[in-house]
Amino acid sequence: MKMSDDIVQAFNDQITLELTADMTYRQLAIEADAQDLSGMAAWLRHQADEEIVHANKFIDHVLDRGSHPRIGTIKAPEIEPGLSPLEIFQAALAHEEKVSEAIRQLYRSCTSAGDIDAIPLLHWFIDEQIEEESTVSDIIGRIQLIDDDGSGLLRLDAELGSRDVESTENGD
Ligand code: FEO
Repeated sequence: MKMSDDIVQAFNDQITLELTADMTYRQLAIEADAQDLSGMAAWLRHQADEEIVHANKFIDHVLDRGSHPRIGTIKAPEIEPGLSPLEIFQAALAHEEKVSEAIRQLYRSCTSAGDIDAIPLLHWFIDEQIEEESTVSDIIGRIQLIDDDGSGLLRLDAELGSRDVESTENGD
């Protein structure tokens, strides 16, 4: 099924938002690294890589359906320097919530346009967003439990730094 121009534009906007998420996580990784929290920085940078996987999934979908994806303007991340570890992950969660809502809106647009072919991909993304929000929320909860216990923060940092590295070529 050929995509309508409006649906292609909606996908382009989502591609741009995923790449903006990539930049946001990269800046958050810098904020963590600037505080010598190298495990958190590695986790955040890996998350940035996953956002490229997400953008590629949308790009490939548009290409596979014979349309032409176009990347839009990627805004600089709105991240102030000097965020605490808690604020870093709260900023990550806020961005994930924005992405989740954009995907719900894309789903609404596709269903009202009768674009059934996009639905399986969007289901994958709806599940993915539930998982990503949950993972970041868990980290926020643990940082809140740690409070200002430096050794607890270092243990969490080490744990996050041991996250498995997946290829950016397939995010399945
Ligand atoms: Fe592509 Fe983290 O959402």
